[in-house]
Amino acid sequence: MNDAQVPQGRSRRLSWGVLILAMILTAGLALLLSSIIERRQEAQIVQIMQPIDPMETDSAKWAGNFPRQYDRYKRMQDSETQTKYGGAFLRDYLEETPANVILFSGYGFAKDYLQGRGHVYAVEDVKHSKRVGAKTPATCWHCKSPDVPRVMAELGKEKVDYPDEATFQELIMAGAGDFYKQNFMALKDEITHPIGCFDCHDPATMALRITRPALIEAFERQGRDINQASHQEMRTLVCAQCHVEYYFKGEGKYLTFPWDKGLKVEQMEEYYDQYRFADWTHAISGTPMIKMQHPDYEIYNTGIHAYRGVSCADCHMPYRTEGGAKFTDHHLRSPMLNIENSCAVCHRWGEQEIRQRVEGIQDKVREARTRAESAIALAHFDIAACKQAGAEQEKLKAVRQLVRSAQVRWDYVAANNGMGSHSPQECVRVLLAATDLAQQARIESTRLLAQLGHTDPVRYPDYSTKEKAQALSKAFIAGNPPNLLGEKAEAVAGR
Ligand code: HEC
Ligand code: HEC
Ligand code: HEC
Ligand code: HEC
Repeated sequence: MNDAQVPQGRSRRLSWGVLILAMILTAGLALLLSSIIERRQEAQIVQIMQPIDPMETDSAKWAGNFPRQYDRYKRMQDSETQTKYGGAFLRDYLEETPANVILFSGYGFAKDYLQGRGHVYAVEDVKHSKRVGAKTPATCWHCKSPDVPRVMAELGKEKVDYPDEATFQELIMAGAGDFYKQNFMALKDEITHPIGCFDCHDPATMALRITRPALIEAFERQGRDINQASHQEMRTLVCAQCHVEYYFKGEGKYLTFPWDKGLKVEQMEEYYDQYRFADWTHAISGTPMIKMQHPDYEIYNTGIHAYRGVSCADCHMPYRTEGGAKFTDHHLRSPMLNIENSCAVCHRWGEQEIRQRVEGIQDKVREARTRAESAIALAHFDIAACKQAGAEQEKLKAVRQLVRSAQVRWDYVAANNGMGSHSPQECVRVLLAATDLAQQARIESTRLLAQLGHTDPVRYPDYSTKEKAQALSKAFIAGNPPNLLGEKAEAVAGR
């Protein structure tokens, strides 16, 4: 035996060993990684000990079977939490951004616009909103309560969606409209439970399910079958029942998602334009406007996490371990309050670093948003100045179309939750377009004013606080607006 061969043989064996070890390690690591990303595989086996009534909308009645989930669910009562741009408290958006009052002038959102909080407040908060009045359609209930799908199941969805007589108030007040009196007695008692287990789970199996027809129908119109959705997609689609852009279609105010042409803001705008749909007429500029409503699902879809198959539940309902049991955290809230479970399971960055990255993204989106909203506010005043200068309606039409397009884009981002963190690039792209369109409207207005002999700058009124902005908005609504034209105009008018 050659001496020299001994170490060689050993080293060969050693390198085989190292190789095998490395292979095992790699395989282990790959498994770990895929188990992190494919956490969907961890679907729990759920045992229902006490049967749940198939129509049980009271979440407390599900608690006996699932005390852990219910206990976490109830923690959504905490409405003191605050993050830089979110959290569960009634942040006053109008106080924070008085320009919003100008942008929504003539519409309910100029009166009252508060940040959302936990699901358990859904019924209470909607009743207290100053935006809700005697004429508000009952369709509003859709995303607030599991009693909606229950009543639909009992009476047929068309009956619930929603003839004129059935206003929002009639559903909560004793004097229910004739339609409801005839058809289903005292509906005021019907809608009482806030968003709960029944909205997302089948009580017989606890499988995730879609209870809102609007989402199923929106899929159908796109030629897709929601029943084919994968388990991981369901962990997002249960949220897309409510966290989406929608509108009330036609006389029946039928809840509809404007997705037929696609989920991008341009495609939704095109959809609305083909019906010449308008939520309201702007009190300052006279523009027919569209209000966007929290398009969280749509914007999420354009982001990196959707692309990589990370679901809403992965970040907002991460797994939680208590007393050795692992379960889904039903305390839905800002992930910034729970970074370790929400993000750090996939990202090996420190908690502080994750917070800084998110806030850094949000600061940039907020800056772009602020630029867009000031340009749009000024554009509304520019158009009002054109009106005061006597511009023809026909000429104002094109300028109004520009400001309508600008604001729908701004609102797509502004009404979205999370200050752009769900898809930063898309939000900044859309805000850039919004600012550009608003500036185009302002250039066109300036041209119109010049043609009418007004070359002085428009005199923009002060809207730097919520109170000032609301007083201003009211003056326009009352037909008593301030004079926006320059000094020369006053001289011309002999004032
Ligand atoms: C990659 C993780 C992630 C995913 C996936 C995700 N979100 Fe978020 N979400 C966030 C972050 C981060 C915020 C910002 C929280 C803050 O500013 O405090 C947020 C904020 C929100 C908020 C506002 C919460 C608050 O307190 O301000 C809502 C509502 C929301 N997301 C809904 C959704 C919905 C619906 C989906 C799926 C369509 C989704 N999110 C997908 C991370 C995620
Ligand atoms: C039935 C409609 C509905 C469904 C389904 C729904 N939400 Fe909500 N969500 C709401 C409403 C309404 C609010 C605001 C409640 C309020 O302010 O009173 C809200 C609020 C929230 C908040 C804010 C809570 C906070 O503390 O800031 C988050 C986060 C959230 N939802 C995430 C989700 C996620 C993730 C899903 C899916 C797993 C989901 N929601 C499913 C209607 C719904
Ligand atoms: C907004 C939708 C939503 C609501 C409301 C909701 N859940 Fe869930 N629930 C989920 C999601 C998402 C999962 C994860 C399912 C999965 O991945 O298979 C889940 C999982 C579960 C599971 C399986 C075990 C586990 O923890 O993963 C149980 C049990 C459960 N929920 C009970 C409840 C109960 C009880 C309520 C009411 C108090 C409730 N859920 C309300 C979305 C919801
Ligand atoms: C289930 C796994 C998972 C969770 C949970 C998760 N992420 Fe991610 N995240 C990913 C993947 C995968 C990518 C894409 C990485 C890539 O392709 O390079 C990503 C990318 C990112 C990026 C980079 C985006 C870009 O464009 O470069 C940021 C920032 C980020 N995540 C933040 C968060 C935050 C904050 C949370 C918690 C609220 C979170 N993530 C939760 C898997 C996850």
